[in-house]
Amino acid sequence: MSLAVTLSRAQEGIAAPQVMVEVHLSGGLPATNIVGLPEAAVREARDRVRVAIQNTAFEYPGRKVTVNLAPAELPKDGGRFDLPIALGILAASGQVPREKLDDCEFLGELALSGSLRSVSGVLPALLRARARGRKVVVPRANAAEAALVSEVEVRVADSLAEVCGWLRGAQDLATPTGVDTEGGIYDGPDLRDVRGQLQARRALEIAAVGGHHLLLVGPPGTGKTMLAERLPGILPPLSESEALETCAVLSVAGQPTDPARWRRRPFRAPHHTASAVALVGGGSLPRPGEISLAHNGVLFLDELPEFSRHVLEVLREPLESGHIVVSRAARQSTFPAQFQLVAAMNPCPCGHAGDTRRRCQCTPEQIQRYRSRISGPLLDRIDLAVEVPSLPLREMDASRGPHDEDSATVRARVLGARRHALMRAGRPNAEINHRELERDCALGQAERRWYEQALEKLGLSARAYHRVLRVARTIADIDGGAGVLEREHLAEALQYRRF
Ligand SMILES: Nc1ncnc2c1ncn2[C@@H]1O[C@H](COP(=O)(O)OP(=O)(O)O)[C@@H](O)[C@H]1O
Ligand SMILES: [Mg+2]
Repeated sequence: MSLAVTLSRAQEGIAAPQVMVEVHLSGGLPATNIVGLPEAAVREARDRVRVAIQNTAFEYPGRKVTVNLAPAELPKDGGRFDLPIALGILAASGQVPREKLDDCEFLGELALSGSLRSVSGVLPALLRARARGRKVVVPRANAAEAALVSEVEVRVADSLAEVCGWLRGAQDLATPTGVDTEGGIYDGPDLRDVRGQLQARRALEIAAVGGHHLLLVGPPGTGKTMLAERLPGILPPLSESEALETCAVLSVAGQPTDPARWRRRPFRAPHHTASAVALVGGGSLPRPGEISLAHNGVLFLDELPEFSRHVLEVLREPLESGHIVVSRAARQSTFPAQFQLVAAMNPCPCGHAGDTRRRCQCTPEQIQRYRSRISGPLLDRIDLAVEVPSLPLREMDASRGPHDEDSATVRARVLGARRHALMRAGRPNAEINHRELERDCALGQAERRWYEQALEKLGLSARAYHRVLRVARTIADIDGGAGVLEREHLAEALQYRRF
């Protein structure tokens, strides 16, 4: 009887729990049993591993092979365990040495030829392995992702043969290279392309500084989508730890990270026909949805009233908590979902209410019904609403106006203004807690009285009271970060609540 153990990692949400692959060879009729994998996955893994071993010029043991993947209760999908299973079989049958197996983890699906195929969730697995001080071997196809994690010994391989050569000391395995440690140099769409729309540009800048959610309202073709797409370009690049979190989500979604852009904030724009699962995540093997793929970046919902009520409803929880819990058959997965929402909509079904260039065709009831599709609680969480009107043609024609700044200029200003909030509370104003709000948004007596009267006149809720203060704080920060909030900061902040 002989036994070998190899180490690997499963994928659960963006966690990567350890899996021990125990291989046991014994007498009896030749047969292979795999315990701890779902039935269909067992059959496939068994075939791939057997043929890959044979095609790598090793011998598949003609004995009873029992493979146990422990612990049993973890989700164990797909082919990620092929490589550790194959190595366990080869080690148990004395065809490769076991010494290096103790402190090394393996991930990789095998093709019948014995070559290694990429797997999802490599990044979170590497972060966990690093915490345990272990080496990791992954398929070369995952090298770009692997290169993002510093201070862990990663090797990449093309085939089972290479890994076995390495275990025997006969050859070296490459380390992943080629990551651009900056990776944040912004080369996306630029604000310099946007004509006019000064009010919307101002709101976009406030949103960028404070991390506030933003709603753009206007007829078709006025630049709403253009503006939304340009928000990531005026936000600060991701910090290393933020970038790793965001890449970890992409990794478990099976979407490769572009190493040249890994510090860039994500921008996701799901279509309004997207299902709730596509938006917030789910499925039998829970996958992250668009809100998690937008983690630390921007989620753009164009044509907001066209999204189903249910879909908008499920957005509320993550908007508040910054994460989403996806439950499926007694299993729960948590995905991060700290995104900045930008929504766009027409003012009415035909799109031209309030338009100076075209007459609106809608009845007041139609307009009312259209707007009421967006629930109050969702609107409540959007601190900035701004109109993006039709431009006079001469403004569209103008080659470049004096206000058409480029994204780099605006981003520099955003970074400067954000610094005030980061120094006070360590996070942007949209995320400060109640205690920080009381401390940092204090009002003088006259301002408080004026503010309360203004809120009352506008019929705003008690909930709005604090949210408007946060925006006013951001406006004051752009204004130089003066200690107390002044009336003009409050007045401008209130203006973005009129919708
Ligand atoms: N303010 C603007 N400045 C420059 N081009 C604009 C502007 N508004 C609209 N356009 C042009 O019209 C096209 C459609 O704009 P878009 O942002 O998609 O409008 P919306 O989302 O408001 O319907 C853009 O690709 C651009 O060519
Ligand atoms: Mg649009």
